Amino acid sequence: MRGRIGHKKLAEKVCSADEAAALISPGDNIGMSGFTGSAYPKAVPRALARRIMDRAQNGEPMQVGVWTGASTAHELDGALAEVDGVELRLPYQSDPVSRAKINAGRMEYLDIHLSHVAQQVWQGFFGRLDVALIEVAGITEEGHLIPGTSIGNNKTWLDLADKVILEVNSWQSEQLRGMHDVYYGTALPPHRKPVMIIDPGDRIGVPHLICPPEKVIAVVETDAPDRNSPFKAPDEISQRIAGHVIELFEAEVAAGRVPANLLPLQSGVGNVANAVLADLATGPFEGLTSYTEVIQDGMLDLIDSGKLVSVSATALSLSEQAVQRFTDDAAKYRDKVVLRPQEISNHPEVIRRLGVIGMNGFIEADIYGNVNSTHVMGSRIQNGIGGSGDFARNGYLSIFVSPSVAKDGAISAIVPMASHVDHTEHDVDVVVTEQGVADLRGLSPKQRARKVIEKCAHPDYRPQLTDYFERAQRESHGGHTPHLLGEALSWHQRFLTDGTMRAR
Ligand code: COA
Repeated sequence: MRGRIGHKKLAEKVCSADEAAALISPGDNIGMSGFTGSAYPKAVPRALARRIMDRAQNGEPMQVGVWTGASTAHELDGALAEVDGVELRLPYQSDPVSRAKINAGRMEYLDIHLSHVAQQVWQGFFGRLDVALIEVAGITEEGHLIPGTSIGNNKTWLDLADKVILEVNSWQSEQLRGMHDVYYGTALPPHRKPVMIIDPGDRIGVPHLICPPEKVIAVVETDAPDRNSPFKAPDEISQRIAGHVIELFEAEVAAGRVPANLLPLQSGVGNVANAVLADLATGPFEGLTSYTEVIQDGMLDLIDSGKLVSVSATALSLSEQAVQRFTDDAAKYRDKVVLRPQEISNHPEVIRRLGVIGMNGFIEADIYGNVNSTHVMGSRIQNGIGGSGDFARNGYLSIFVSPSVAKDGAISAIVPMASHVDHTEHDVDVVVTEQGVADLRGLSPKQRARKVIEKCAHPDYRPQLTDYFERAQRESHGGHTPHLLGEALSWHQRFLTDGTMRAR
């Protein structure tokens, strides 16, 4: 027994981060914990980055493959990217240094639906997983691993890797114990069984991760906080978007399409999503549930307001203040929160069956309702698709939200043709900007275009979009989804050459 390490044999494997990093070989694929800045390993990746830098200075370059749950933080993604230590990164990431390396063509990046990652790794598309590097909150006497603030792909990494390095982080609250539900029933076809979650709060697994102690080659003790980024107080634009979403929900209830307590909500990452949650906390809906990926501050507000009765996710992504609130009142939250592996939190079958209402941010949407969540001006990755596709494609109601303009109005978020498509017109039910709501359900492409332009475009860009659409109807070679191919992406080109999408 040693601090948080209850298992005698594993306590004997405690070593320094540098010693653990020395056990990683050049070219290894490493499955790391971490999801939206939560429960990522904090010491060994930095030690590995130091080792990679030392080797580079001695003319022995070293790179590794980095696989995670989703985004981590500077200590992991930033540190390894800075020394050009990452050959290939998957899946979702949002670190600015990595983003710059990826966009400079110096790092390969695979942006995969978060529910698909485990399956594709099991199928062997990315090669062998050599090492699992997992942060945990503690190890029990039996050798069970108590997860921290996220689970992500940890189960898969522990199942598949030959060698396991554990970081036991005493910053992670012991109060997290019992909040996790790790399902060990997944399989590849034809052996799959239904995932028996009927209510977002259902538990179908065990509260810990399982790892044969003999696979563990090193245990490192740490005491460092998660990323815990602050949220901006909702600005006027976010509040207007949130107000439109609440009105949409009210209309859905009035039309009898969803019950008075709505259906399980999924809320994407970012400040706009957080603003919608804040509005729900003072809004008219009671008895809410959530089947989502990440629990942000707004979810805690909803629990505190008594309006949210259960929430399923794979990670917490809280500000520093919210972490404190969470830890101080853990018993209350433990009752309502279930953290699961991301292949279950984002499971298409469960999302479809529960009838989840998905709300995700977008970078741009085109007049026909195709949505780009990931690329700026067609080529530059911003973050990644994350779980937005899991929820948009399989949800009962799929809503995409964004301000109508970016970069002080130089960019219209509503464009003639999206410069990259993550969610096709077939997966997008409703587009919301601060200007209004375009409910696209039941509409043909041309009807959708009229609605998107009228309801969602910024007034500065509405005449330009109307002009494009009218000419496209007259001049294109097909009348179903009219486009002027030579002009469809000219708005993006104009921004790149003139610094604005506004017509001259
Ligand atoms: N063209 C160029 N840049 C744009 C843009 C556009 N049409 N729209 C937004 N941006 C830029 C913003 O200017 C901002 O840049 P900055 O960081 O330099 O200031 C950045 O993109 C983020 O935009 P912001 O308005 O702050 O929105 P956000 O934080 O809500 O993020 C997404 C919006 C789309 C980037 C974010 O929601 C995302 O990564 N989505 C994909 C993953 C996802 O949906 N996950 C949830 C599943 S659970």
